[in-house]
Amino acid sequence: MILVTGGAGFIGSNFILHWLAAESEPVVNLDKLTYAGNLANLASLTEDPRHIFVRADIGDRARVAQVLAEQRPRAVINFAAESHVDRSIHGPAEFVQTNVVGTLNLLDESRKHWSTLAAAERSAFRFVHVSTDEVYGSLGANDPAFVESSAYAPNSPYAASKAASDHLVRAYHHTYGVPVITTNCSNNYGPYQFPEKLIPLMILNALQQRPLPVYGDGLNVRDWLYVEDHCAALRLILARGRPGQTYNVGGRSERTNLEVVNAVCAILDEVRPDHAPHATLVQFVKDRPGHDRRYAIDAGKLETELGWTPQEGFEGGLRKTVGWYLDNIEWAQSVTSGDYRQWLATNYAGREAHP
Ligand code: NAD
Ligand code: TYD
Repeated sequence: MILVTGGAGFIGSNFILHWLAAESEPVVNLDKLTYAGNLANLASLTEDPRHIFVRADIGDRARVAQVLAEQRPRAVINFAAESHVDRSIHGPAEFVQTNVVGTLNLLDESRKHWSTLAAAERSAFRFVHVSTDEVYGSLGANDPAFVESSAYAPNSPYAASKAASDHLVRAYHHTYGVPVITTNCSNNYGPYQFPEKLIPLMILNALQQRPLPVYGDGLNVRDWLYVEDHCAALRLILARGRPGQTYNVGGRSERTNLEVVNAVCAILDEVRPDHAPHATLVQFVKDRPGHDRRYAIDAGKLETELGWTPQEGFEGGLRKTVGWYLDNIEWAQSVTSGDYRQWLATNYAGREAHP
């Protein structure tokens, strides 16, 4: 079996659903169930004995050691993290605790587990660490896209904590020989994304005719990848990626935030014409401090070495995503608890609209 951490979050739950649709091998899902972790994402697996859920913190060394000893996975895929840049600006300590200290615990317990395996199992073992393109910092408008050898230059507490975890993962390969692989992926979107991130926030706000808060001038650029394509990349990397390597994952779909928000509005205009044009809800608000201007990913290594290409274009993926949120309004209501409303009050306070 494989051990997935953070499997009740956005990408982790998509990964488990993707994995169990394609493979017979069971998944142990170790997740703390923070505000971002929702077992409702995995409701379709309730009767599936191949999904084993363990509520635990990756920072809880004894518990992680126990799960590894009991389940004896052949691989660990680490999605568990605090993942939202804006939350890291309001409270960086939790990011260091989970993303740095937690990853170190998980790495070290995985190293111990790996060292107990027989020789053939030891060389087949993998620790896949799921990271972000944000570790590379910000690009200028005409700079080439990030490659695996781009220098790390994290600018937010979130990015800095992920960068630190990436360095620890690398060190565990060089120092102890653990067969690790790190992936650095661009912005994901798709089903089950917690509605504080740009795309689901805009979809759900627009459906309620609430303002669409665009930070700064709306011209910051992100590369967008449909989550299913990220899951496919991770499955391929687990099967055929080379230990000790890092792989960039991206959709070759750079868009300004304003383009993304307008694209969401255009789809909603078609499916909810009564409230068209939704783009009149856009409000430019105070910028995020230290807001990275542009991310772009060169996924050439993954494409040429392992033959991966994204199957979904941005417009098609966005249409699917909007459709999913329209069909799953109850899911959105069930995950947006009191904590979520408190977060909205904190993050958007003092961000009055400006022309
Ligand atoms: P998410 O916030 O939706 O989910 C994170 C999950 O981790 C949740 O289920 C949460 O309960 C769990 N978790 C948090 N702290 C934990 C702890 N201490 N112990 C155990 N579980 C814990 O995040 P996501 O968007 O699904 O991102 C998953 C991973 O992918 C993260 O490592 C993130 O850095 C990385 N990533 C995300 C994106 C993106 O666009 N969302 C892009 C590139 C990389
Ligand atoms: P986000 O989804 O938080 O992802 P990340 O910060 O990891 O890229 O934000 C994506 C972009 O959208 C980012 O440039 C910030 C911007 N943004 C807004 O303009 N308004 C919002 O309300 C949010 C949440 C994000």
